[in-house]
Amino acid sequence: MKEFIFPKDFLWGASTAAHQVEGNNINSESWVLEHLPGTIYAEPSGDAIDHYHRYPEDIALLAELGFNAYRFSIEWARIEPEESEFSYAELEHYRQMLAACHEHGIKPMVTFHHFTSPRWLMRDGGWLDEKTLERFARYCERATKHFGDLIGAACTVNEPNISMLLSKMLPFKIDETPFWDTAAQAFGVSHDRLGLFQFVTQPRMREVILAAHRRAFDVLHSGPGNFPVGLTLALVDIQAAEGGEGKSAEFQREQSDVYLEQLRGDDFVGVQTYSRMMLGPDGMVKPGDDVEKNQMGEEYYPEAIGGTIRHAAQVAGIPVIVTENGFSSSDDSRRLEYFQRALRSVASALEDGIDVRGYFCWSAMDNFEWVSGFGPQFGIIAVDRETQQRIPKPSAYWLGNVARRNRL
Ligand code: BGC
Repeated sequence: MKEFIFPKDFLWGASTAAHQVEGNNINSESWVLEHLPGTIYAEPSGDAIDHYHRYPEDIALLAELGFNAYRFSIEWARIEPEESEFSYAELEHYRQMLAACHEHGIKPMVTFHHFTSPRWLMRDGGWLDEKTLERFARYCERATKHFGDLIGAACTVNEPNISMLLSKMLPFKIDETPFWDTAAQAFGVSHDRLGLFQFVTQPRMREVILAAHRRAFDVLHSGPGNFPVGLTLALVDIQAAEGGEGKSAEFQREQSDVYLEQLRGDDFVGVQTYSRMMLGPDGMVKPGDDVEKNQMGEEYYPEAIGGTIRHAAQVAGIPVIVTENGFSSSDDSRRLEYFQRALRSVASALEDGIDVRGYFCWSAMDNFEWVSGFGPQFGIIAVDRETQQRIPKPSAYWLGNVARRNRL
């Protein structure tokens, strides 16, 4: 294969999310959910991988490996632990984190909301409640006033469409489980007023979230700092199995197009892809037992990212940044090959003139994979959770080297 040179200033990074790595995010709604009787979470997040204290060495390690960017999220529940009570200490914490990135030549991409919200927000219905729009904007304003001058790029919210995907993959409806009622009770709301971002169950929530994105987009653009702003979407590469053209088109609309169409005019769209989904006349066609899968049960199909980049660019008509892409496996050689093939499909999209500005793998380190707990391994860096020691895997050296050379 001939060598491919990526565009100048291409962003090469790894991604994390605060709740999955920091540890002890006790004022978040997720912490409450993880500790409910009969919780659906395999285990609580606990200390996670203590990134809250260990970010200096983690950022230094990413730089040493060859990356020039790092995508991480800041935690609303830390910055505003009770309504209107903003913590200067936590704002300062994130300012230091951004400063650490700059010290190491790393461009920081900040996600303002990655699934978790303060627990107090839930008492009013969370992402179902109109007031969340202004509350989110106010939090973004506080945060960006404090450290906007150090931000390299920003994502307002992460994957507002994730539940579309989950609804196809889960064999049950989350709001029909006993867990849902226990959770509603814990936040003191009725069954229909549980507005959890990760589990969008009513169309109303989509409107609130997209409106919050719009407001945050303007707030973040009003400075300080001058950086591109977008949101990220969970995009699976939808392909039609025999006779599944109608179903595929329908799902493409629900999962991606209704969102992508509203992003025209944004600075970029963050594309987050792990696999493909085949749809037949009766819906999703599950990959057979003989097909290789990741630890989440999705097909090993690295070329998916090429398909979703092309689709997102075509519908939204704005630049694309791959903000998450990766493979969860205990066998790192499968992850390494995944990156090789995935990057070839990114290169081919670039060759065809599609404006792709960066590639962030998921994830920098093995971490807390939400309801699945610490089982799945997405990281290019392993973490010994007893000692919190970081151990880069071969895929980290390989990807870091591609990043350093800016060529494949
Ligand atoms: C999310 C991450 C998650 C990853 C792997 C994405 O949907 O943004 O938080 O860990 O997928 O499942």
